[in-house]
Amino acid sequence: MGLLPIPRFTKSGRTQEQLPNSNAASSSHTKKKWSKLMLLFVVLVVVAEIAFLGRLDMAKNAAIWADSFFRLTSSASLGRDEVGSGVLGLDVDSEFDGCKEWLEREDSVGYSRDFEKEPILVKGFDQEFKSCAVGCKFGFNPNKKPDAAFGLREQPGTARVLRSMESSHYYAENNLAHARRRGFNIVMTTSLSSDVPVGYFSWAEYDIMAPLQPKTENALAAAFISNCAARNFRLQALEALEKAGIKIDSYGGCHRNRYGRVEKVGALKHYKFSLAFENSNEEDYVTEKFFQSLVAGSVPVVVGAPNIQDFAPSSGSILHIRELNDAESVAKAMKYLAEHSDAHNQSLRWKFEGPSDSFKALVDMAAVHSSCRLCIYLATMIREKEEQSPGFPKRPCKCTRGLETVYQVYVRERGRFEMESIFLRSSNLTLEALESAVLSKFKSLKHVPIWKLERPESIRGEEQLKIYRIYPLGKTQREALYTFRFGGDAEFRSHVQRNPCAKFEIIFV
Ligand SMILES: *[C@@H]1O[C@H](CO)[C@@H](O)[C@H](O)[C@H]1NC(C)=O
Ligand SMILES: *[C@@H]1O[C@H](CO)[C@@H](O)[C@H](O)[C@H]1NC(C)=O
Repeated sequence: MGLLPIPRFTKSGRTQEQLPNSNAASSSHTKKKWSKLMLLFVVLVVVAEIAFLGRLDMAKNAAIWADSFFRLTSSASLGRDEVGSGVLGLDVDSEFDGCKEWLEREDSVGYSRDFEKEPILVKGFDQEFKSCAVGCKFGFNPNKKPDAAFGLREQPGTARVLRSMESSHYYAENNLAHARRRGFNIVMTTSLSSDVPVGYFSWAEYDIMAPLQPKTENALAAAFISNCAARNFRLQALEALEKAGIKIDSYGGCHRNRYGRVEKVGALKHYKFSLAFENSNEEDYVTEKFFQSLVAGSVPVVVGAPNIQDFAPSSGSILHIRELNDAESVAKAMKYLAEHSDAHNQSLRWKFEGPSDSFKALVDMAAVHSSCRLCIYLATMIREKEEQSPGFPKRPCKCTRGLETVYQVYVRERGRFEMESIFLRSSNLTLEALESAVLSKFKSLKHVPIWKLERPESIRGEEQLKIYRIYPLGKTQREALYTFRFGGDAEFRSHVQRNPCAKFEIIFV
């Protein structure tokens, strides 16, 4: 077959070829050629358009393409009779399973880095952690470029990490915005809004559920404050309580009136109250002073983090001197509780009944060592970056059959690395369906929550999994624990629709 002739147009719009022969046969011959040409033209236009669109939104189109490809292949594989008798509409569950299988097959994406063979390398001293959900090594290896290092003097491609447990009111460089401005890529501070928070709390460090001891001391409260100077009003608060008639045994350097060496927590156990006065009033900055009071079962009277109630083991379990003016009313509350032992016992009821889910979810974060959480954070970023790179295989993420679309989304427990896939139907794209799919997935995997062996035995819970929070991967712990919630099913639905293969993290309690 020869090349198609290139038609030349006359002013009348007809091709010159038509002019010499006006008989019917020849005319039909040229018409055939012409329609072939039109077809070629249409194909070229479509191809060009696809290429253009493709450049605009490759991922989206890939999903649509894969989607329609699936529709083509799946209807082709059905017998003609089945299509004719409308099986598509009737057998919804097998449709769903078909979609699931196809999505799982299509989405078995291989990442270029296997973290087991090539662990995350952080330049720094070896850390003590038992195991980590992702390959994670700390050390100094001159032959290998680390993924991250502490400090700012690093070559490009190595994440610069700031880690500190000090208050930013004393060390301004620990302020999140300040640290980012200076060029730190990853910030690890007590702030739950930092990238990888490092708290003072942990089940391992504090025997939080230790049983109560009789309150045998005469003074209402004990204080262990080494230094009266502080950038908040803690000294004035101490003085205001004393002025209001609260008898305080002070063991520290500040206003000392008790001498001799005592074991702090052991001594605290015999006081009704403990003054947990921090040196600064900074969000999330809650130190051992507070957690030791909880261990001792001595009701904490707090000067410090404005959001200290987020750290309370249950409601009504702590007293907070928000500002100096509160000292008087807090003194009154202390006196009332001291005179009504039932009420005082009530504020410690969490020692018997267990702390709130909110408290457990907070302290459980520390079940995974901060160094391991840093590695998980880094490995997650590496994967996210790879997924967004142009060479990454296109993923369908959803599958449409008839009126129903099946969405593939990914979930993992906080503190773990690998994600599990679950499937949600467009006809039931709700938070309830998400929770239900998550629970059945993790049940089928016989999943054991990551905190199981870390928590005190009395609060390890039943075998049953209980979801405390589900949030999009990438939220801070402050958001995850306290401020983020999907505003309802509509918001959740649009999140899943706007984020192909959406990823979520789960906190079990
Ligand atoms: C304190 O309350 C718990 C229940 O919350 C109770 O079991 C315990 O006996 C009480 N203790 C006292 C001294 O009243
Ligand atoms: C949606 O999913 C939930 C949880 O799986 C289930 O209880 C409910 O019956 C489903 N609703 C519909 C309309 O399928």
